[in-house]
Amino acid sequence: MAPSVSSRAGAPGASEAGPRGAGVDGCGRGISYLRIAVTDKCNFRCVYCMPAEGVPPRSHEEMLSAEEIARFVRIAAREGIASVRLTGGEPLVSHRIVPLIRELREIPGIEDISLTTNGALLPRMAGALKDAGLDRVNISLDTLDPVQFGAITRLGRVEQALAGIDAALSHGFHPVKVNCVVVRRLQQDVFGMARLSLERPVHVRFIEYMPIGSDEERGFRAADAGEGPAGELRPEAWDASDTVPSRELRERIDAEAAAAGMGPLEAAAEGGAPAGAGPARYWRFPDAAGTVGFISAMSNHFCASCNRMRLTADGAIRPCLFSDAEYRVFDALRAGDDDAVARIWRDAVSHKPREHEVIKGTERFMSQIGG
Ligand code: GTP
Ligand code: 5AD
Ligand code: SF4
Repeated sequence: MAPSVSSRAGAPGASEAGPRGAGVDGCGRGISYLRIAVTDKCNFRCVYCMPAEGVPPRSHEEMLSAEEIARFVRIAAREGIASVRLTGGEPLVSHRIVPLIRELREIPGIEDISLTTNGALLPRMAGALKDAGLDRVNISLDTLDPVQFGAITRLGRVEQALAGIDAALSHGFHPVKVNCVVVRRLQQDVFGMARLSLERPVHVRFIEYMPIGSDEERGFRAADAGEGPAGELRPEAWDASDTVPSRELRERIDAEAAAAGMGPLEAAAEGGAPAGAGPARYWRFPDAAGTVGFISAMSNHFCASCNRMRLTADGAIRPCLFSDAEYRVFDALRAGDDDAVARIWRDAVSHKPREHEVIKGTERFMSQIGG
């Protein structure tokens, strides 16, 4: 049986054209999902996402304000956007995140507001985020091993992410998803991660590592050279062979489940997948409270069903994660020229690539693109 695909489930209107029949790209795909990098900064420094010293500093003036982001979303909603994901960098380090969510909540046509976070600030902020109108959160957690977690995130502790998951659950966010980027040479305990879904209603998603955002020219590799034992935590040494295909991962999890006397993962039935607008496919251990998902960005390109556009923190529309083609909308937004913003948006949507070609380093770091 084919597993459920999350696109659509619970995100009302997510794959439909917008209220004016807009929101269809040059290839006929409905564009309903906008990912916004509200900042490129982060309180962690995951080795695959940004260099040890963080992204190059930019002046406040060069970045979009919360008002400009909200203005952009108002225009995008008229063009068919129904789901908005706030990401980064780490969106919770932005002081304007709560008022921004409050403003987005008021925009007609926006039905689903979600946020991707490392979780560290959730215990402190979950209540305010919920009150502002945030619907759901996805929390990054690549390993349960405290030493490995510290090494991957450089600045984080595993207890912070776990406390973030608990805070999300206790404040009633639903669904709560966990993102685990799997890198072959890190040999993470994926079965241990998948087991998180047994007792708690969380959706643990394994993401195939994408070797992008590490272009030599931008200093990612140079900045990290010499760090870490035997290349293990030096992404400059990683390549596509470090991506573990979802199928292989699922087989590994099933084998370990069998050894532990548990049944194998079963495809989540129609309606059994958590609400979402992204590309994950979901499975479930028998009688588990949550699910186990796979995001197969490398082994199974989902370009044909791609419903999303991205906005960077410095005001560029990016139609494809894997392509450096961007449409700068910053000046039009700062000038308050809504017609120009809409024109640039439509131009970007109509030029969204049909599919991506060879996956190679991008000019920007992952944290600048919004993951
Ligand atoms: P929901 O399904 O709505 O919960 O969102 P999501 O899974 O899209 O959001 P999240 O920010 O948690 O993303 C999880 C992973 O999916 C990240 O590693 C993203 O980079 C990846 N992803 C999301 N959209 C795309 C895409 O268009 N292309 C690729 N290759 N990866 C994507
Ligand atoms: N490959 C796959 N996923 C990545 N993320 C960040 N960098 C990469 C990468 N190179 C994930 C983060 C976060 C999500 C938004 O993107 O772990 O959960
Ligand atoms: Fe921060 Fe997330 Fe990037 Fe890690 S992956 S450095 S937590 S933005």
